[in-house]
Amino acid sequence: MISAPALYAALPISVLVAIGFIRKWRSRNWGKCVSNTCLRGKTFLITGANSGIGLETAKALVRRKARVIFACRDITKAKEAINAIRKEQPSGGELIPMQLDLASFESIENFVEVIKAGFHKIDVLINNAGVVVPLSQDEKTKEGFEIHFGVNHLGHFYLTNLLLDHLKRASPSRIVVVSSTLHERAKLDFNDLNLRAEIEKAKQGRVSQRHNLGYCNSKLMNAYFVRALADRLRDSGIDVHACCPGFCYTNLFRNSVRWYHYILMFPVVLLFMRSAKQGSETVVYCASDYSIEGRSGKFYRDCAEYNSKYPFNKEEEIKLWNISEELIKARKPL
Ligand SMILES: NC(=O)c1ccc[n+]([C@@H]2O[C@H](COP(=O)([O-])OP(=O)(O)OC[C@H]3O[C@@H](n4cnc5c(N)ncnc54)[C@H](OP(=O)(O)O)[C@@H]3O)[C@@H](O)[C@H]2O)c1
Repeated sequence: MISAPALYAALPISVLVAIGFIRKWRSRNWGKCVSNTCLRGKTFLITGANSGIGLETAKALVRRKARVIFACRDITKAKEAINAIRKEQPSGGELIPMQLDLASFESIENFVEVIKAGFHKIDVLINNAGVVVPLSQDEKTKEGFEIHFGVNHLGHFYLTNLLLDHLKRASPSRIVVVSSTLHERAKLDFNDLNLRAEIEKAKQGRVSQRHNLGYCNSKLMNAYFVRALADRLRDSGIDVHACCPGFCYTNLFRNSVRWYHYILMFPVVLLFMRSAKQGSETVVYCASDYSIEGRSGKFYRDCAEYNSKYPFNKEEEIKLWNISEELIKARKPL
């Protein structure tokens, strides 16, 4: 006969083992970058490399001897991340901490000045940094743009355009933009890119959809940016790729998560969420796998091409490009 205490102990253990098996089974579809070529001599610039997917991407590239520039909002966090990697991998590639706040055009310009003075070329630019902030907080960039629009899209749009000469010099080179399949939930309103109406509703506790519209829109803008830039850079030797790392456990949701979410979300996290390392696989694939060289302007997920459900159209793409240029020139919302 099995005793009652043994039964009580067996039940949670069997549930955890079952969840472990289901997770393992699910994770066989989460792509893995198998490319292992040495990246010595190549310079990778990663925005937001101190945390989550950016940090794991940096580790994978440094393991393959790449030189990695950590373009981070907080230079102390960049240095801490670098020290931790150095302890893990004392013989990896060079690691360089640099300050970059994508919520400020002035910071982007200063950053690019330092890059131009210190580096002859950039082989791969990885636009990884990103934020998710509840719309009710009405957070803005230094120039007054809605935070998701300003940091996730405009900041990277400006940075990339300022670095194009350096990328051309390294050709064949790459730009990787970390987007999300949540771009499929976006609803762009060109009369209100800063989401004033949605933010006012959010402040009153009324939101029109479950997913943060500011975030979803910015991830669609990432996807449009890749398509437009790939067209503009055709035959330049610079490939542009968009990717989604999948739903990952990182610091991204720090502003939206309350203590009770940890309890409610625990089974979801165990079953569905990837680790930051698992999420970084597709980013590393887009940044370094030779099999996709020359196939510019595509969207990747699970280390394979992904067919988006969003009805992309050229008119929206061109409009977004032109407005982004105009707003950067004006340095304020119009
Ligand atoms: N996690 C997911 O499930 C998921 C799914 C799809 C796509 N993504 C995308 O993956 C990318 C990486 O996110 P993550 O999940 O790794 O989140 P994370 O751990 O929060 O990392 C985000 C990084 O962006 C940096 N950052 C934020 N605002 C910045 C600014 N103004 N200037 C410069 N850097 C800034 C953060 O710096 P601090 O540490 O200083 O805040 C951090 O290093 C994002 O583009 C996100 O949209 C994530």
